[in-house]
Amino acid sequence: MNPEPTLVPLHPRVPKVGPADRMQVAVVGTGYVGSVTAACLASIGHQVACVDVDRNRIGAFCAGRIPFYEPGLEELIAAAGNRLSFGTDLRNAVERAQVVFVAVGTPPRENGQPELRDLFEAIEGIADSAAAGTVVVIKSTVPVGTGAEAERRICERSGLGRISIASNPEFLREGSAISDFLHPDRIVIGVEDATAENALRRLYRPLVTARVPLLVTGRMEAELTKYAANGMLAMKIAFINEIANLCERVGADVRDIARAVGMDSRIGSAFLQAGPGYGGSCFPKDTRALAHLGRSKGSALTLIEAAIASNCHRVESLAGRITSVAGNLRGRQVALLGLAFKPNTDDVRESPALALLTGLRKSGAVVRACDPKAAASAKRAVPDLVCFADPYEACKRADITVIITDWELFRSLDLRRVRDAMAGDLLVDFRNQFDPAEVAAKGLRYVSVGSRTARADSAGAASRQFGSSGPAWREARDGLVTDLHAASTKTASLP
Ligand SMILES: NC(=O)c1ccc[n+]([C@@H]2O[C@H](COP(=O)([O-])OP(=O)(O)OC[C@H]3O[C@@H](n4cnc5c(N)ncnc54)[C@H](O)[C@@H]3O)[C@@H](O)[C@H]2O)c1
Repeated sequence: MNPEPTLVPLHPRVPKVGPADRMQVAVVGTGYVGSVTAACLASIGHQVACVDVDRNRIGAFCAGRIPFYEPGLEELIAAAGNRLSFGTDLRNAVERAQVVFVAVGTPPRENGQPELRDLFEAIEGIADSAAAGTVVVIKSTVPVGTGAEAERRICERSGLGRISIASNPEFLREGSAISDFLHPDRIVIGVEDATAENALRRLYRPLVTARVPLLVTGRMEAELTKYAANGMLAMKIAFINEIANLCERVGADVRDIARAVGMDSRIGSAFLQAGPGYGGSCFPKDTRALAHLGRSKGSALTLIEAAIASNCHRVESLAGRITSVAGNLRGRQVALLGLAFKPNTDDVRESPALALLTGLRKSGAVVRACDPKAAASAKRAVPDLVCFADPYEACKRADITVIITDWELFRSLDLRRVRDAMAGDLLVDFRNQFDPAEVAAKGLRYVSVGSRTARADSAGAASRQFGSSGPAWREARDGLVTDLHAASTKTASLP
């Protein structure tokens, strides 16, 4: 590690902490959130000690390697030098810390409730080492009331009369985690006392100086904010995907609709791209947790439940969508471009790509995959996966090529090369990355999401939509127009 650290080399706009505000911080859990939190806090000048129970993970960090892929993290950790350390000794890290972040995983249980075993294990370990005045901050996404329960347990076990437990939910996205942490839309801190509020205000002062809004709420409000935010985003995705389904029925293009709707400042364009459905370690888990919480409190969140059902159906039907245009897949070669749940990460947790892979194999297809970063993590989930780093290699002799993750590598594909490598000519694009006319000009049949059909037949290769051919959607559209006409006539004739 670099003994002469440079401060925030990648993000010069964030000021560093003044000497009076510099704090000793411990971060428990060094996954995507913990390691990014630690590296970013060190990069603005705090002294940070990271702890994890996973020795291999800590070994990798100590050797200057990042055990997963997150752009810029390796450089940020290297630049932090001796302001950032990694170890497995919780006591050692917590004893010296003024602020202890808990960033362990909270994976979903079968019933949707998050599993809090790791969290409470960490809390108990912290209770054994924390001094009076230490502020414990829960960064993991946890159900409302977890902070209160942690406070009860920590006070009981430590024998300290009172210890401050705050909630500071994290909104970063994998793939742009560092920028999201250092330039967030807002920082939310949920506190129940002035000690916690003052400590967190001091910790985040450089970001606030750089004009990041800091919102102080009660602890429960902060806990619930995280779920509400992810619930809202998941609903947006599920919504535009259903609009895409409708587009396929009536022959409209969802991209035009998303663009026009997204330009409404009350709505915004983010998370309004139709695709294969949401995945990853957060949206599926957090929406299920929110729905479970609602039910358990007698306040069902029917919109969230509908979004969950809609998304589950979408992800499960991905292979069927391909069959509906390509026919029987038994023995056919499919090039699957993408394994990560989104670009710029190697995370395959709840990735629609893996669900599609399973569906394709069940249908008898032979799959050759490609992902620039997620091959290793996908192979841990699917050991016999055949995966290539080069997309053209994956496309060799393929009957069908499917794009499911919107990596830049796939967006910039040379489609002529793809066509030449393939045995067949069908390109299924779950990310709507190409202009149908361009694809058709390269001799490929193009199937995208929520798209107008029969748009680009210039090279004799028809662009088609899922589920129906050109005339069928026209029939559907004409039928719809007739239905609407009938409905309006009927309404008009009502007394
Ligand atoms: N990944 C994201 O994009 C993201 C974004 C916002 C919030 N979150 C939330 O942040 C939390 C962490 O997510 P993640 O993706 O970083 O998880 P992760 O699975 O990548 O990492 C969790 C880490 O915690 C470690 N750990 C488990 N028990 C421990 C213990 N008792 N002591 C020390 N370390 C322990 C694990 O070994 C692992 O390294 C979750 O609650 C998640 O919902 C995640």
